[in-house]
Amino acid sequence: MRLLENNIQSYDFFIEKENMRDEIIRGLSSQVKTISPKYLYDHRGSELFELITQLDEYYPTRTEMKIFNGKIEEITEAVGDVHTLIEYGSGSSNKIKALLHNFSTLKEYVPIDISRDFLFQSSLELAMQFPHITIKAVCGDYTAPLTLPLEENGKKVIFFPGSTIGNFEPMEARSFIMKSAQLLNEGDGFLIGVDTKKDIQTLEKAYDDAKGVTAAFNLNLLTRMNREIGADFDLSQFEHLAFYNEEKGRIEMHLESQCNQIVKIGGHQFIFQEGETIHTENSYKYSIKEFQTIAIECGFVPSKVWTDDTGNFSVHYLQK
Ligand code: SAH
Ligand code: AVI
Repeated sequence: MRLLENNIQSYDFFIEKENMRDEIIRGLSSQVKTISPKYLYDHRGSELFELITQLDEYYPTRTEMKIFNGKIEEITEAVGDVHTLIEYGSGSSNKIKALLHNFSTLKEYVPIDISRDFLFQSSLELAMQFPHITIKAVCGDYTAPLTLPLEENGKKVIFFPGSTIGNFEPMEARSFIMKSAQLLNEGDGFLIGVDTKKDIQTLEKAYDDAKGVTAAFNLNLLTRMNREIGADFDLSQFEHLAFYNEEKGRIEMHLESQCNQIVKIGGHQFIFQEGETIHTENSYKYSIKEFQTIAIECGFVPSKVWTDDTGNFSVHYLQK
């Protein structure tokens, strides 16, 4: 633990380069080549994600913010006398900033993110803006076992905005929500943003914008692999591909090889046929009913749900 300001502590669960290299090699060796979306977020990836949130086509961020702002009284009432707020994938912490003014009983905020510099920078800003709240910034992979520095002093609420839950496979999402429940006591809560199913055109435009920011976000993964694990991807020979898989209810993001080619990482060689892809992300969309069913299966009571007028996004408050 390191003390950065009077009211901020940092906890670093270091992610070894070796582990990343092994995981990438395993993913590229499988029959359907895959790389986990968690590797999209190096510093540049986090910057590009922030740009995505400002795009006209990317409706989730502004729609969720509209719900937070429009329903703030009801959300504050549902969250109640919260003492500890834990946020998964806090990124720039922009969304929590909109809520913190209203959570008057809050004593500690525990943002968890894999993107180290982004996490510590946004935590520092928050610490200065909210000097009465202790901020415990945890850098690590939230899918790995992490021992969180939590006070057991009152009501705990987990905050998981942005529909990042959609980036898990549905079975993994269930395990993740169940594992999260173990941090909570009866009466504690889970405030979670979930993107809903909608027309294919709106969905596909959100993941393949006209300015090519999402393409740059996806391709940055290859730049990162070249820099950090010594891969030799030729970026001019891969293209961003995003489409809605209706049967599975998910947007799929891929990097498509533009020719027959061989990519090397150290002594490992990966053969790509023209048109073959690396599957880099899924973004599952859930109807309100579908997500409530998952919450119930995971031991939560779906106590409140808010949407915008169009029903384009949902925010659920689940009670343990
Ligand atoms: N909550 C913000 C950011 C969402 S982007 C919003 O709603 O706008 C997803 C965030 O989750 C990024 O900041 C990324 O760095 C983080 N993230 C992705 N996978 C992660 C993992 N396995 N462990 C920890 N953080 C992760
Ligand atoms: C972080 N996550 C919820 C985003 C999403 O919509 O699935 C990541 C993203 N990928 C492409 N655009 C945005």
